[in-house]
Amino acid sequence: MNVEFLAADTRPSETTALAVLAFEDGEYSPGAEAIDGAMGGALKRAVGASRFTGAAGQTVSILAPTGTPAGRVLVIGAGKQGAFDARAAESAGAHAWNAAKDSGSEALLLVMPPAGPERQAHAALGIRLASYRFDKYRTTEKPEKKPSVTSAAVAVADAAAAKAAFAALDGLADAINFTRDLVSEPANILYPQEYARRVGELTRLGLEVEVLGVKEMTALGMGSLLGVGQGSTRESQLVVIQWKGGGSAAPIAFVGKGVCFDTGGISIKPAEGMEEMITDMAGSGAVVGAMYALASRKAKVNAVGILGLVENMPDGNAQRPGDIVTSMSGQTIEVLNTDAEGRLVLADAVWYCQDRFKPQFMIDLATLTGAIVVALGKDLAGVYSNDESLAANLLAASEATGDTLWRMPLPPQYDKLMDSHAADVKNISGGRAGGSITAAMFIKRFVNGLPWAHIDMAGTAWKPNSTVPTIPSGATGFGVRLLDHLATKYEG
Ligand code: BES
Ligand code: MN
Ligand code: ZN
Repeated sequence: MNVEFLAADTRPSETTALAVLAFEDGEYSPGAEAIDGAMGGALKRAVGASRFTGAAGQTVSILAPTGTPAGRVLVIGAGKQGAFDARAAESAGAHAWNAAKDSGSEALLLVMPPAGPERQAHAALGIRLASYRFDKYRTTEKPEKKPSVTSAAVAVADAAAAKAAFAALDGLADAINFTRDLVSEPANILYPQEYARRVGELTRLGLEVEVLGVKEMTALGMGSLLGVGQGSTRESQLVVIQWKGGGSAAPIAFVGKGVCFDTGGISIKPAEGMEEMITDMAGSGAVVGAMYALASRKAKVNAVGILGLVENMPDGNAQRPGDIVTSMSGQTIEVLNTDAEGRLVLADAVWYCQDRFKPQFMIDLATLTGAIVVALGKDLAGVYSNDESLAANLLAASEATGDTLWRMPLPPQYDKLMDSHAADVKNISGGRAGGSITAAMFIKRFVNGLPWAHIDMAGTAWKPNSTVPTIPSGATGFGVRLLDHLATKYEG
């Protein structure tokens, strides 16, 4: 849903849901005071007759009020007024959307307090993120099941200033929603070549996109990545995205796991829940979204995004447990479990990244292990890093964006757990203990000592029952904002 900015005195119509903010401790925004005055005090009486305290997310809905043409007035709880920062404004915008969307009203008009263009713009971002829907395949959905609200606007004192502040955030919303689309697409539609084609269209934003196929990857010696894809009829792809906004500085680099579908391969997964493995490319999706965001705000940084795109299938030509492959780094890998495929894809993708681009640092993102979900649950992604300043910057970006990270360890004594008797390294430790850590220890062997971070986001890419106001159930877009925000630290 696109969001417009309108003047504070915009007259609502009968089909409008007019949303105003109220804070905890009985404080009302000027917009709420004004509409309460026009309604002869009915707004505060309605609030008084309810359990509304102003806590974030609470709403009171007043139908057919007198004193305003709006068919509905929504009072949106915005939390403590002193804590009403950009993120709180974003949540308020999202809550306003969520309260209005199925109400029967056709337009949302959110009246923002004079809190400055930044917070006003973030309220609009909240609406854009909350109103995302992946409904392209729902051909028989009845109109009354679709959201009734078909337009959204934020009313502010200075619409031009808010609009200017919103430009970069609008691009960020486009980026996050682009990533959500990629993650939501089923695997029969979004296979590696189709994925690469869609990324190729982003040259319209000024990104440079190159696509390597099996022939090119074979020439580079990427036996680890290619082994994963060899059981699929869909050709594996390595996509290289570049944003050149930083002059001659060394780039920052993001590398994403793009397993378009993970059956487990010959080490096949159980049927139950396997459909969720359409999201096993979400790490690469975050990389695409971050590059999209950087390009749309013309970030003053050089950035490289690398996507390792494969489909992990069982087949007569599939890789077997016990196979030994040679990675681009020269290290041989004993593949003891074909379902530990993400790390095999990343081994070649991160090696290629450091070899070709000599970046300042690399961050890889992957829906890598069920073990990280056991360790951290579904709201936190694990972050591993060999570099304290990169780790600190990532944790700060996590704090600022709400893409929540929790630091995990890289214990040197666990490195030997990945030693193989038959090859240089094996792709599983052999036990379940510390499964996300041992996966990180595996990838670490392919980063060639560069400053590096690894984000295991298996728990956070997909929320079937989201309770976060800015995240509709489904693909979260996790990681896009995190990387976009992190990049600001490295801009010239
Ligand atoms: N794609 C999965 C991890 C995953 C699990 C992502 C749940 C999202 C939700 C990954 O490729 C995988 O299969 N990992 C195995 C590793 C094991 C074989 C060492 C796992 O976690 O069981
Ligand atoms: Mn797997
Ligand atoms: Zn996987």
